[in-house]
Amino acid sequence: MTDNRPLTTDHYLWWQTGVIYQIYPRSYKDTNGNGVGDLTGIIEKLDYLSDTLGIDAIWLSPFYPSPMKDFGYDVADYVDVHPLFGTLEDFDELIEQAHQREIRVIIDWVPNHSSDQHPWFQESRSSRDNPKRDWYVWTDPTPLNPPVHAGKEDKFSPQQRGELEGGPPNNWLAVFGGSAWEWDESTEQYYLHSFLKEQPDLNWRNPEVQKAMLDVIRFWLERGVDGFRVDVAHFIMKDPEMRDNPPAPQEGLAFHRPHGDYDSQEHLYDKGHPDVHGVYRQFRAVLDEYSNPAPRMSVGEIHIFDWDEWASYYGNPQDGFEFHLPFNFSLLKTAWDAGAVRQAVDEIEAALPSWAWPNYVLGNHDEGRIATRFGAEQARVAAMLLLTLRGTPTIYYGEEIGMSDVDIPIEDQLDPFGLRVPGWGRDRCRTPMQWSLDPYAGFAPEEVSKLWLPLSDDWEEINVENQITDPTSSLSFYRQLLAMRKKYPALNRGSYTPLDGMPQGCFVYQRQEAEQSLIVALNFTGVPKRLPLEGDGKILLSTNMDRSGSENLQSLQLRENEGIIIES
Ligand code: NOJ
Repeated sequence: MTDNRPLTTDHYLWWQTGVIYQIYPRSYKDTNGNGVGDLTGIIEKLDYLSDTLGIDAIWLSPFYPSPMKDFGYDVADYVDVHPLFGTLEDFDELIEQAHQREIRVIIDWVPNHSSDQHPWFQESRSSRDNPKRDWYVWTDPTPLNPPVHAGKEDKFSPQQRGELEGGPPNNWLAVFGGSAWEWDESTEQYYLHSFLKEQPDLNWRNPEVQKAMLDVIRFWLERGVDGFRVDVAHFIMKDPEMRDNPPAPQEGLAFHRPHGDYDSQEHLYDKGHPDVHGVYRQFRAVLDEYSNPAPRMSVGEIHIFDWDEWASYYGNPQDGFEFHLPFNFSLLKTAWDAGAVRQAVDEIEAALPSWAWPNYVLGNHDEGRIATRFGAEQARVAAMLLLTLRGTPTIYYGEEIGMSDVDIPIEDQLDPFGLRVPGWGRDRCRTPMQWSLDPYAGFAPEEVSKLWLPLSDDWEEINVENQITDPTSSLSFYRQLLAMRKKYPALNRGSYTPLDGMPQGCFVYQRQEAEQSLIVALNFTGVPKRLPLEGDGKILLSTNMDRSGSENLQSLQLRENEGIIIES
C-alpha cells in the first residue's frame, strides 16, 4: 500500500493534516540530573504536547549512542539509545505513551555518515582488505611520480603526509570547513567526510550498506516509530567519477548565506547524484511495507533551492514514490518581506507535482530562532503564516513561547560548526527549554551542577508556566492557532489562493475547503494598512489577540505588525 493519495480524495493522512513539533532531546527536559535532556523527560511532557499544544507528531533529533562530536549526528550505533538519554526500554515506553495520546513519533535517520567510532568504520579503517573496507568511501591520493616524501615522514602531520603522497583525489570540501578528505596513515588512503572528519561518509553504492541501513529502518519500524526525518538526504550519492566541483557562480552567493570556503564551490559532484532517487525508492518501499494499517512517513532534509530538482525527491507514480515530504526550507532563505514570502510560497505551489503535499519550516536546530530573526511582533506574524499555509508545518521546540537565540561566548561554545567556521555556531538555538520558574527553568532537577548549554537570561519572563495563564501570551496564541488549524478543514487541507491588489507590505491569501473560506492577512510592516476587501466577515484571530467578531471588511485595517484570520 502506498500513502500518497491524490489530493482530490477526501482521505487525508496524519502527516498531511497534522502539525509536527521538533524536539532536540538534549534540551527538552532532564529528569536524571546530568544536565542533558532525556527520553523520560520527553515522556513527562507528552501531556503538554497533546493537551496544551495539541500537536500531532514529534520529531526527535538523534538519541543514539554517539561520541557527540556533532551532538548525535555522529552515530556510533544506529539501533540503540545513548545512556545519556536513557535506554531502549525508555524509547519503547515513549512510543507507547505517545501513541496513547495519538502523538506520532518521527525519529532522525542519519544515512550519509556514521561516527568514526561506529564498529563498521573501525573495521573499515583497520586494513585495506577488511570486508567492510568498501562500506565507506576510500581512495588513493592523486598519484605523484616519484613520491617526494621518502625519509621525511616524521616531520609532517598525517594530512601533510597525504599531501606529499599526491594530495586528495579532488577539491571537495566539508560543510564544516576544510577538505572533505582525511588521510588515514595506517592504510595510506583518504576517506571521505562531507561534515567532520569524525563523520565518515558511508558508501551507498555498496549494496551491503544499503541493506544494513534499510535494516536499521526496519528495526525502528518494528518498534513502532511512525516516520523518519532523513538527515542531509541528498548527500548520500556522489559523482562516481569524483570530478572536481567548479567554482560557485557569483550570483548564487547572495542567495545562500556564505559559510566559509564551502560556498566557494558549486556542489555539482559531491552530493545529489541522480542515483540517489533509486535509494529513496527502496527506502519508501520499506516504509510502505509497514504502512498497513498505520501509515508511516518520511521527511527528507534536502537543502536544494532549485524547486524542480527539490520536487523530484517526492518521486513519482511512474518510477516510484520517495519522500512523503522533502523539507521545504524556502522560508528560511527568504527575506522577511511580504512580497518575497509570497513569491516563495507561490513558487513552491507551482513546483509541486499533483501528487505532492507541501510543507513549511521556519526554524530548527541549525537555524536562528524566529524571535531573534524577526523580532517578537513579527514572530507572531511568522507563526500565523506557518500555521495557515497549505501544507504540513514543523514547529521547533520553544518557538511556541517565543524563545530567542542565546549569545554564548566563543570560549563556552560547543558546536563544532561554529568553532570551525566563525559565526555559524548553532548552540544559540539549542538552549534548554524554558518550562517554569523553578530552578533551571524547570528543565533540570535542582541538584544538577551544570546544564549542557546555558539557559537564556530571559527564562524568568519567558517560560511555559508564565504564559499558560496569560491569555495573550505567545503560548496562548500558538494554542489558538493550533486549535483553529484542527477545527477548520480550510486550514488543514483547503486550497491556497494568494489575493492580488493588496497594499505593499501585506501578504493576503485565501484558504478554502468546500463552503468554508478563510482569509489570512499578514502585515509584515510597522505601518497600519487598509485592506481592499469587500463584504462582511468574521475575525477569528488577531496576532494581538484583542479583537474578534463580525466586521465590514471594507473598513478593515491591519494594524502594524498584525496578522488576522477572517472567516469570509
Ligand atoms: C544536518 C543536521 O541538521 C545538522 O545538525 C548536522 O550537523 C548535519 N546534518 C550533519 O549530520
